[in-house]
Amino acid sequence: MENWTTRQATADDKEFLYALNRAAYTDLVRRQFGAWDDAWQRSYFEKKWDPQKYEIVEQAGQRIGALSVSRTTAEVRIVEIQLLPAFQGRGIGTELLQREFRHADVLGLPVRLQVLRENRARALYERLGFRVYGETGTHFLMERHNK
Ligand SMILES: CC(C)(COP(=O)(O)OP(=O)(O)OC[C@H]1O[C@@H](n2cnc3c(N)ncnc32)[C@H](O)[C@@H]1OP(=O)(O)O)[C@@H](O)C(=O)NCCC(=O)NCCS
Repeated sequence: MENWTTRQATADDKEFLYALNRAAYTDLVRRQFGAWDDAWQRSYFEKKWDPQKYEIVEQAGQRIGALSVSRTTAEVRIVEIQLLPAFQGRGIGTELLQREFRHADVLGLPVRLQVLRENRARALYERLGFRVYGETGTHFLMERHNK
């Protein structure tokens, strides 16, 4: 078990979130779309940024990632899950998702997310019990049902 905690994001986390977004997605976006257009990405980020919707993941007092989860009476939706590259591949993403599974399983709800077609995170989601139930030109739609 890694020693991480989460807390509600605040307005002060905005630049961290943008830098995290860039660090976590530049390679993937280049692979799938050919280039990282920083002006486009910044304006997309500005439109969706809302501290209420994000939790910050911390380890040893440092911000290492972020999570955005929408919980309704119908589903638990992982809207965003991002870790700084230095903290990827250590099991933290699995642990964050398992926390959401516990919440969803108690309520008998499916967990859903969408993942860019070129993102190798799809293999992680499949290992954790997600199945592809649909696709768009850019994404696979995945869900995990309570066992
Ligand atoms: C996806 C992510 C949250 C997973 O968390 P993690 O702590 O790195 O994952 P774990 O250590 O629990 O599990 C390892 C698996 O995660 C996936 N993974 C690891 N690094 C990744 C990366 N840079 N991008 C995408 N998936 C990654 C792989 O499937 C890996 O398994 P593998 O080593 O057998 O290939 C994290 O890697 C990340 O922030 N990636 C970049 C942003 C992203 O793609 N977010 C998901 C959007 S749907």
